[in-house]
Amino acid sequence: APAWLSLPTPPTAELHLHIEGTIEADLLVAAAKRNGVELPSYDPAVLTERYEHFADLQAFLDVHYANLAVLRTEQDFYELASGYLTRAAAAGVRRVEAFFDPQTHVNHGVPLGEVIGGLSAAFSKAEETHGISAVLLLSFLRDLGAQAAEEIFRAAMPYREHFVGVALDSTEVGYPPSLFEKVYGMAASEGLHRVAHAGEEGGPDYVVEALDLLGVERVDHGNRALEDDDLVRRLAEDGTPLTVCPLSNVYLKGVPSMAEHPLPRMLEAGLTVTINSDDPAYFGGYVDANYAAVAAQFELSRDGLAQLAANSFEATFSTPEQRTQWL
Ligand code: HPA
Ligand code: ZN
Repeated sequence: APAWLSLPTPPTAELHLHIEGTIEADLLVAAAKRNGVELPSYDPAVLTERYEHFADLQAFLDVHYANLAVLRTEQDFYELASGYLTRAAAAGVRRVEAFFDPQTHVNHGVPLGEVIGGLSAAFSKAEETHGISAVLLLSFLRDLGAQAAEEIFRAAMPYREHFVGVALDSTEVGYPPSLFEKVYGMAASEGLHRVAHAGEEGGPDYVVEALDLLGVERVDHGNRALEDDDLVRRLAEDGTPLTVCPLSNVYLKGVPSMAEHPLPRMLEAGLTVTINSDDPAYFGGYVDANYAAVAAQFELSRDGLAQLAANSFEATFSTPEQRTQWL
């Protein structure tokens, strides 16, 4: 048997996880029924069959946002987060810094307090219930524009203690980081950490803008940074972590196949790569499945996997004292 088969996936931090992307078909159906929201099917197998054939990021986002209409109450958000934490604990997650997309839910008529209340109730006791240190990153939907980002940021200020940073997700191409310079400045003034999706479908210029104009401390995805040698050198020298999502990249056709994933080139270039699941309910599994996929494809050694896991802890927003508890 190949050596990687005997490799357990390591304990890890998960730094690129959309909490809404953890909605499994059972919760989707249960929440739809209790909230009276219509779904195209109530058969979990039929619902999830659609996930195998996304043409690109937008095709996924269309299904993802339609599904999220089922989330209406604080209880729904609590169950969403608790369900993730249970599966993450089984996948070896010791620390999670998860995105949530408040604009999606507020635009569905859900009060912001219910969204944050439900998520943070589950996250704040995750250490006790699941042995996971769990924090939230408030993510802006880039396709709704800068004005809307500033509005949700102001609306979230009463809940400032419930998140540690801001992020930027949704449709990338056409919505460059430069649009969000002001709101990231507001976040910096509040002492919040800053990350952004860049270089998933957008070019290396999106990654440069995220660094230069938004002051991001990590780059979410960052795959297309490899097209710019100067940028690769800069990321390597600065040790800026990339939160890479291998199965997501294959499912959303960012790469044609796992064999062609740029992970080996990223490692060769000396980049601080971390392994993450992105939207695990949609992309074939949780963070352990992502480790297993790259271990299998690239015949990584135990040391190679351990290095990726060490990178993930090093890339967290935490103190060295906290990190020693997770390792
Ligand atoms: N990219 C951009 N936006 C997203 C993603 C992603 O992978 N998942 C959920 N929202
Ligand atoms: Zn993502």
